[in-house]
Amino acid sequence: MPPADVTSAAHAASPHGLRAVQRVALAGPAARQEIEDGLLAPQARISPKYFYDRRGSELFEAITRLPEYYLTRTERALMRAHGRAIAGAVGLGRVVIEPGAGSCDKARTLCRRLAATHFVGVDISADFLQGAVLRLRAALPALDARAVAGDITAGLQLPADIPPERRLVFYPGSSIGNFDPADALALLARMRALAGPGGGLLIGIDLPKDRAVLEAAYDDAAGVTAAFNRNVLAHVNRLIGSDFDPCRWQHRAFFNWAASRVEMHLEARGPQRVRWPGGGRDFASGECIHTENSYKHSLPAFEALLAKAGFCRCQSWTDARGWYAVLHARA
Ligand code: AVJ
Repeated sequence: MPPADVTSAAHAASPHGLRAVQRVALAGPAARQEIEDGLLAPQARISPKYFYDRRGSELFEAITRLPEYYLTRTERALMRAHGRAIAGAVGLGRVVIEPGAGSCDKARTLCRRLAATHFVGVDISADFLQGAVLRLRAALPALDARAVAGDITAGLQLPADIPPERRLVFYPGSSIGNFDPADALALLARMRALAGPGGGLLIGIDLPKDRAVLEAAYDDAAGVTAAFNRNVLAHVNRLIGSDFDPCRWQHRAFFNWAASRVEMHLEARGPQRVRWPGGGRDFASGECIHTENSYKHSLPAFEALLAKAGFCRCQSWTDARGWYAVLHARA
């Protein structure tokens, strides 16, 4: 299904029998405007949310299996090692809501462990999500699992029959790292509202660590992250009709220690003229497009952010190397 312009299909039946499919405005005029504004800014930028077309989602799955990309497997090991304690903190029979659900792999393990009654997967990559939710339903037939195509940062409408109580917002994978501190705070506050009274948040964050470890994780030897970064240009070409040649852009990733974030950029290999209907830009050789920030919050800093967003009674679990943390907090 092609992305349509906002919520035209909300709560309608889909060919897959998935209810409550809400279309998202990834390809609409607002997205076009956002992308063009970013490309024309003095420091050109593309939002990392545009990484995740079908190929981008597949490349990200490949990243999670790379030897250098410790985040996914460290989080999985943490969830396994502390599963009982986490379930004790969260409580059983939850309504699990996962923004950015992607492949729903983490949700399957969590929902089984918590004997969750409902699961709502939310993602801006609707096609990929729908397949994942179908597989989740097959694995856990007792779970009421739904796919909602949407963007949590843009205010999200859940289907009306999702219970308002016992909610757990699940935000694993250090996805919060993509947001600047002010935006992260706003997003956490939205999640608190989504969780509702008595609800909770279970979230994974990547911690600050040795520069070499961080930089290898975002610039792997096999070049998968480079392909993932470049693929955003192919996606943008389809979204705004531009003529980027992805091969002519070099992947760059480095740890910005002062801002405590890994930055990804695409650097022009030689001068380039990029055109799209109604606009364009010339890039000098070596000029960069900023495509991602991945913040590395320390545990105390992140707990302070959670408190500011209105969460309390925070508990956390960390691996032996202190590389990654899973936190639970109450709304
Ligand atoms: C999905 C945002 C958590 O920042 O580590 C992986 C995305 N970018 N490799 C991250 C990503 C480059 C990832 N997040």
